[in-house]
Amino acid sequence: MTKYRIAWLPGDGVGSDVLDAARLVLDKIGFDAEYIPGDVGWEFWKTEGNPLPERTIDLLKSTDACLFGAITSKPKDEAARELAPNLHGKGLVYSSPIVGLRQMFNLHTNLRPCKAYPGNPLNMRDDIDLVVFRENTEGLYSGVEFHPVPESIRTALDAHPKMKRYAHVKNDDMAISARILTRKGCQTIARDAFEYAKKHDYPTVTVVEKPNVIRETSGLMVREARKIASEYPGIELWEANIDAMCMWLVKNPQKYSVLLSTNLFGDIISDLSAQLVGGLGFAASGNIGDDYAVFEPTHGSAPKYAGQNKVNPTATIRAAKMMLDYLDEKKMAERIENAVSQVISEGKVRTYDMGGSASTTQMAEAIAAAT
Ligand code: IPM
Ligand code: MG
Repeated sequence: MTKYRIAWLPGDGVGSDVLDAARLVLDKIGFDAEYIPGDVGWEFWKTEGNPLPERTIDLLKSTDACLFGAITSKPKDEAARELAPNLHGKGLVYSSPIVGLRQMFNLHTNLRPCKAYPGNPLNMRDDIDLVVFRENTEGLYSGVEFHPVPESIRTALDAHPKMKRYAHVKNDDMAISARILTRKGCQTIARDAFEYAKKHDYPTVTVVEKPNVIRETSGLMVREARKIASEYPGIELWEANIDAMCMWLVKNPQKYSVLLSTNLFGDIISDLSAQLVGGLGFAASGNIGDDYAVFEPTHGSAPKYAGQNKVNPTATIRAAKMMLDYLDEKKMAERIENAVSQVISEGKVRTYDMGGSASTTQMAEAIAAAT
């Protein structure tokens, strides 16, 4: 018997290249696990009309954690056109499997560390150390959307004075996406951000919202963040609007540490933060709930590089490292972190994004050798 059972979901495009690379490192450090492959992604959408088959969900339930590669997503109509002929006309609608997993397993906390490794030629600056806490199941990702708007919803909304300006718009000429936040959701992500700041000695948590305009939802997040902040006297709560924050992160990223936000704003600032420290080839993401967690590189499936053994596996290797932290295998996690840092600062082995010519495998081998 191995100590852990890990669900292994390569998905689409470069997903298997980067997962194989992470595996090389996990094997080298002697992580004692059985890896159970699962079906997810575009292929299963096309052939089964479901990119996240039920059997994959069952598989995840029988494991300790999941490593997830990458997924191809296309807009609704394009996705429908690519379905196998026998699945046409059944009203199947594509939805993102990773978003599905986050909600299904209540992986409420999306943790995205964006730290500059010294010597990475892609760093904007070498003194950046940001950690994004993104609420992962609510907000504009709630999936509660309407087009056309059903009459019952329309009638309820029409009671709102601000709806007057839409009085002449037909239900069919209107689309609505509900931004649903719960007090519990806001509290949970804020608590996680502050706990992390406390544990890792970060001086500030910046809540990134837009409460001056989006008064109720952003307002709830900020108010709950303030309450939680009052329990952490050593850590300052800073408040910033999402638009200004994008500007400040480009201008003075070194001033910030933990960033806290709701789902879509967190999605946006995490890409921005990733680019400050080398781009998506370095950005890892942990989707963490109370009972389960899924770790993935933040990047997509990059179909043009699929199977070419070309992309930078560092993001996925760091995702594996985060998985080890989650499983409380701190020593192994640290070995990976130090090895990544060493290989980057030595600069001898670099993938194409860093101006080098090393393959995905070569980069992973170098990191494995440094553990
Ligand atoms: C991310 C990605 C996903 C998201 C996509 C692939 C659905 O951008 O993990 O940041 O929007 O959350
Ligand atoms: Mg994103």
